Amino acid sequence: MAIRNIRRDGNEAVKKLLKDKIIAEDEDRRAHDEIQKMTDAYMGKLDQAASAKEKEIGKSSKGPLLEIETTAVHAGRRIDPATGAVTPPIHLSTTFERSPDGEYPRGYSYSREDNPNRRALEECLSALEGGKEALAFSSGLAVVAALAQGLEPGDHILAPDDVYYGLRKVIGDVFAKSGLEIAYVDMTNLVSVRAAVRPSTRLVWIETPSNPLMKITDLAAVAAIARRANAISVCDGTFATPILQRPFEQGIDMVTHSTTKYIGGHSDVMGGALVTKYDNYLFERAARASSLAARCPRHSNAGSPCAASERCPTACARIRRTPTR
Ligand SMILES: Cc1ncc(COP(=O)(O)O)c(C=O)c1O
Repeated sequence: MAIRNIRRDGNEAVKKLLKDKIIAEDEDRRAHDEIQKMTDAYMGKLDQAASAKEKEIGKSSKGPLLEIETTAVHAGRRIDPATGAVTPPIHLSTTFERSPDGEYPRGYSYSREDNPNRRALEECLSALEGGKEALAFSSGLAVVAALAQGLEPGDHILAPDDVYYGLRKVIGDVFAKSGLEIAYVDMTNLVSVRAAVRPSTRLVWIETPSNPLMKITDLAAVAAIARRANAISVCDGTFATPILQRPFEQGIDMVTHSTTKYIGGHSDVMGGALVTKYDNYLFERAARASSLAARCPRHSNAGSPCAASERCPTACARIRRTPTR
């Protein structure tokens, strides 16, 4: 009798498990179909906007396109006007000449902010990824730090549960006091991703293939979830490189790489890259993040002689008269 009961209970439990699994799979399939429809509609709109722009500038995307190998060799490279060198010379100068009116007519002022070699690398990375603009960083994790600096206290990040451990450390330890919130989710499970999105989610971080588990995320689906939540989607494509994976074609907003890995290719240079498909506030803030600490004292020094003068204009005078805490 007792054995029969155990067997019956066991059968019931197995049936329930199977039923739950079917329901979960159904839900996942429905979520996937719905997201696919949204993505198709969005990509259609992007195509329409692109053709309108092409008509406006009289250019066709149907014209001859460079193979990606050719892009890798040529993008960002120019013949050096001073010497005719076809390989760009390495620019060691930290500072660049001003014109008499105080401007920098050649576009470079200080190497931390920009220099011809870095710009060449950024142009090449952007072209390879099919983006609008790129920023080169000193490492892949420096990209994470720069993006985190652009977020506000209370902002929420969604990231994969097996994300590269360094991201967990940067957000969890370095930015612990910044009030950022982060949730880790299995990015391959769209139902869980949708459930984990909050009204405060600003950044959806995807890593595919992921490190260490090599999980593969449905980029178009997660990009659509992020878009619906008004969050920016960023795909870490380090392991795939732009040769094997085209995140912008799946609706992703920004792509990042640890160029230390396959893009560098020889394990002898550290680097990171952030490429954007369009202008957005996090990209702009990431670009400024690296120079802020140095800019603040410079601003103060420039302001002090003015603030010390009795003829100081009102704004400065107000600052001068404000008691320091
Ligand atoms: C997928 C992935 N993203 C980011 C990083 C961090 O890059 P970096 O070591 O250049 O800081 C790594 C490093 O292993 C990585 O594997």
